[in-house]
Amino acid sequence: MARPAVLITRRIPASVVARLEQACEVDLYDGTGGMSRNNLHARLAGKQALMCLLTDLVDADVMDAAPGLRIVANIAVGYDNIDCAAARARGIVVTNTPDVLTEATADFTWGLILAVTRRIAEGERLLRRGDWTGWALDFMLGTELRGKQLGIVGLGRIGRAVAARAGAFGMRVAFATLDADAPRAVTDDPSWTRLGLDELLTSSDVLSLHVPLTPATRHLIDRRAILRMKRRAYIVNTSRGPVVDEDALAWALREGLLAGAALDVYEREPETHPGLAGLENVVLAPHLGSATVETRTAMADLAARNVLAVLSGAPPLTPVVA
Ligand code: 8YV
Repeated sequence: MARPAVLITRRIPASVVARLEQACEVDLYDGTGGMSRNNLHARLAGKQALMCLLTDLVDADVMDAAPGLRIVANIAVGYDNIDCAAARARGIVVTNTPDVLTEATADFTWGLILAVTRRIAEGERLLRRGDWTGWALDFMLGTELRGKQLGIVGLGRIGRAVAARAGAFGMRVAFATLDADAPRAVTDDPSWTRLGLDELLTSSDVLSLHVPLTPATRHLIDRRAILRMKRRAYIVNTSRGPVVDEDALAWALREGLLAGAALDVYEREPETHPGLAGLENVVLAPHLGSATVETRTAMADLAARNVLAVLSGAPPLTPVVA
């Protein structure tokens, strides 16, 4: 019997390719950048599995390019790039990579929080420009975290892991959840305070976003939301770019309505909003939340194990659409 075939849309670790090759024919796209839509269509034809990234738009059209497609395994915890309803209608399993990237992303979020409140990136830019003229008591003063409120929007796995690190910096945690499961959201620590979103916005000193991108969260942080926040507050986004209205954010930062922002994700990646790139009180990272060797390997490996499970007739390990 012919072995099933899997298309992988980006370079992944060789150990993971080897794992797949034990049971599948592997077609690995190893060009730089993502696959074009036409190329994706053409190479997916005849495949039973697709391993893809958040940069690959997998809609009904793409799925129909491969009538025998059984699984779309996203190498990401977010899956807003996949039309899950279309997959469900076609009986295609969709999986993501939860858990394995939680700690790396939470660590990185704290890196951003520290970078923006202590002006680390700004100071580095100044130094590299040769503009450091020497030490002064009032030089580049940042904001203390101790005693302040960390506001978590979305208390899923990553939101909880970010909150769990707050005690090390002396911050108290408040959170708001938006999903239908809100009453069941797990609070790992009884000292974390649940607030409504509006109250969280008005009372937080650092607001960290951890919601998936859905129609309900697109531009959740818009001009109206920002206007509710303290003028000395910071926004940190390691979720999805479109959760924040970048025009509104750039406007608020320019007008001095916020102290700063640290972003890992953008509305139109890999483009950076021109109104943000020029501001000193903004830290910009190129979507690195999960970017460690260990975590990215674990993500690719989990996606591969999902593919192998489904192709062998077993249930997926981490289904989004089963
Ligand atoms: C990944 C992410 O870097 O998992 C996610 O949803 O945003 C990041 O961890 C990215 O998605 C890689 O596809």
